[in-house]
Amino acid sequence: MENKYYQIITYGCQMNIHESEKLAGILEELGYKKTDKKENASVIVFNTCCIRQGAEDRAFGNIGALKGLKKKNKDLIIAVCGCMTQQKDRVEKIKSSYPFVDIVFGTHNLFMFKDLLIKRLNTNKRVYEISDDDRLMPEQTNMVRDDKFNAYVNIIYGCNNFCSYCIVPYVRGRERSRNFNEIVEEVKKLIDSDYKCITLLGQNVNSYGNDIEDSNVNFNNLLKTLANLDGDFTIKFMTSHPKDLSKEVIDTISENDKLSKEIHLPVQSGSNKILKLMNRRYTIEHYMETINYIKQKIPNVRLTTDIIVGFPGETEEDFMETYNLIKTVEYDGIFAYMYSVRTGTKAETMPDHLPLSVKNERVNKILNLEKEIQKKNGR
Ligand code: 5AD
Ligand code: SF4
Repeated sequence: MENKYYQIITYGCQMNIHESEKLAGILEELGYKKTDKKENASVIVFNTCCIRQGAEDRAFGNIGALKGLKKKNKDLIIAVCGCMTQQKDRVEKIKSSYPFVDIVFGTHNLFMFKDLLIKRLNTNKRVYEISDDDRLMPEQTNMVRDDKFNAYVNIIYGCNNFCSYCIVPYVRGRERSRNFNEIVEEVKKLIDSDYKCITLLGQNVNSYGNDIEDSNVNFNNLLKTLANLDGDFTIKFMTSHPKDLSKEVIDTISENDKLSKEIHLPVQSGSNKILKLMNRRYTIEHYMETINYIKQKIPNVRLTTDIIVGFPGETEEDFMETYNLIKTVEYDGIFAYMYSVRTGTKAETMPDHLPLSVKNERVNKILNLEKEIQKKNGR
């Protein structure tokens, strides 16, 4: 095949970044090469996110901007995949308003990309493949990793938690753990190839193994096994759910030099009333017990968190509880978001949604507080 090029545009989390590495593997197996110039590409893939409305708006804006390029280059293939296209109404929107998009597929169909692309090339018809069947993703060995130093490794797909604001369980399906030995083998190969930092990925890594009968298959044992491998490397992981991060896992992290001392523990809110409405299933008292245990066991820990401000029903007092919690914990990093309503979630139908101006004010207060904390601690 003459030189043909691809470009993948990725939105959202590490899971998506890693899935784009799998898509790149499929494209390179078909003979395509990576390009940074859209004008040179024969295939452009948008791997989308839908965690907040802003992510969807950005994707739609950038897809729309390709209309002209497609007019100039009729052979250009445009594919849209990922979390946004796992939602049926978004697929309908693409069908009706973005007729120059050639292929649309959902999160559960990622591994079919090769067949979908070939189908599109052979039939000249638009191809749609969105399935609700969240079976375990087939093992893929030909991924093209973005980095020579850091590598992502999936350990569990999907989420069972149904936090009331979150779209993830609807677009990523139920929890499916990868085979223990396959994970260990992949990590070994990465270490042998000189990767120094390996990040284990899952929506809730602490649930690893819950869907596997063998009780030895759990997150703590996985961490211990990986930390015992030979070589010079660090293991990171994300994300942990505060209701599931156990003392055993914290002990394991504290006892093993190869396990990173960075812990991302999203609290979302400092108010027990809001946590309940969010269906987070922990209290602030429990969260603080975990934080204090971490600080006691891992004195050099780097703690980060996610915060949502302006959840429906959040009063000024609720918000101040979040504010004060941040002051108490003195996180090393905070990702603060304004609540964004997601179709089909529990929170969508809750009363007392807040105006954008209030959310904006609160998010800015958090960002300023974060700056103060960083300054105070000389970071
Ligand atoms: N609105 C705002 N932020 C959200 N997050 C998840 N869903 C929403 C939403 N609907 C945030 C949470 C989560 C992070 C990945 O994104 O803080 O931890
Ligand atoms: Fe969303 Fe909650 Fe699952 Fe995280 S744990 S992906 S916030 S539902």
